[in-house]
Amino acid sequence: MTSLTGARVLVTGGAGLIGAAIARHVRASGGAPIVLDDLSGYDAVTYQALGLDPDLVVGDINDESLMGRLTRMSDFVVHAAAFSTVAGCTRDPDQAFQSNLSGTHQVLRAAAREQVKRLIFISSAQVYGHGVQGLDQVQHFVEDQPMSPLNPYAAAKLWGESHTRHLLDAAGVDYTIVRPFSVYGERQIPKPGAWSWVVAQFCMYATLGQPLPLNNSGRQVRDFVHVDDAAEGICRALVAPRAGGATINIGSGRTTSILQVAELVRDHLPDTAFQAAPRPLHDPLGGCADIARMTEVLGWQPAITVADGVDRYLNWLRETPEAIPVWLPGERDRVSAWNSGVTP
Ligand SMILES: NC(=O)c1ccc[n+]([C@@H]2O[C@H](COP(=O)([O-])OP(=O)(O)OC[C@H]3O[C@@H](n4cnc5c(N)ncnc54)[C@H](O)[C@@H]3O)[C@@H](O)[C@H]2O)c1
Repeated sequence: MTSLTGARVLVTGGAGLIGAAIARHVRASGGAPIVLDDLSGYDAVTYQALGLDPDLVVGDINDESLMGRLTRMSDFVVHAAAFSTVAGCTRDPDQAFQSNLSGTHQVLRAAAREQVKRLIFISSAQVYGHGVQGLDQVQHFVEDQPMSPLNPYAAAKLWGESHTRHLLDAAGVDYTIVRPFSVYGERQIPKPGAWSWVVAQFCMYATLGQPLPLNNSGRQVRDFVHVDDAAEGICRALVAPRAGGATINIGSGRTTSILQVAELVRDHLPDTAFQAAPRPLHDPLGGCADIARMTEVLGWQPAITVADGVDRYLNWLRETPEAIPVWLPGERDRVSAWNSGVTP
């Protein structure tokens, strides 16, 4: 574990999945997290199931004076707050702009003014788009390859990366840009209208006795990284000497197919049925992170396998059944209606 003894770390979006895991990791590493969130990411029942940080400051990253006050108290900043779903940002570009562009600008301005020791900007693997090989090939995403963001969420992340470089280089403040791949794990709770958090969705469907929809026979692959691993990698990036100014993938370096995830869930709940579904239009086959830079610069690799992660998630769900959103059972039909333009 990274030593953050005595470090005060402002974590924006600290009530969300990744921010909360980072705050826990900071505390466990001897540091003091300062947790900020406006609680816009989920409804109140879901935040209750997630469990809020005892020292949470409820506020908006767009609040300049609040950002100034909290940043002044901090040695480091981890900027995890975002309107964090691809589908959500496409449906509501105004909120996406407020949180992901305007809000990021305020966070960076405060970090520059207060001369923090280092800021981590949490970008996303979404900046790679379909990659250089195209959406029908399994990809290996390398940090320096060309970017091709395909939606407002990804475009805002790519803009956030360059805005981080421009503002913080000019202010002489150190920073690291991290690009997490598919983060999953205990406390991940699906959002309405977002169809990307497959481990959580499949575990919940199987728990409810519903079949698991396998688009394209589950051939799509993703690079799954457990949230506790992602939090550790991000905390290492706060202090690793060579992470300053770097852009680093955060992934396992391995692909796991959606069918494999479904089979891992069925190993625990053997009555689970699979249901064939068409491939949604433009859904990429997927790929994994190149982790050479991450391994070298952070001296670290994720430790939690997808099999262990599914096991842990199902155990958490058994203890926290209220985490299953009331709207979830009907969600699959709504999603197939949105995906009505499908490839054969
Ligand atoms: N989950 C993933 O697979 C994944 C992958 C790559 C990158 N990311 C990025 O990691 C970060 C954290 O993602 P997450 O999965 O924890 O999402 P999340 O939705 O669980 O958490 C984001 C939190 O940010 C808060 N927030 C949004 N706008 C805010 C504002 N204006 N002021 C204050 N707080 C605000 C929300 O209330 C929410 O609690 C995001 O930047 C996301 O884009 C996530």
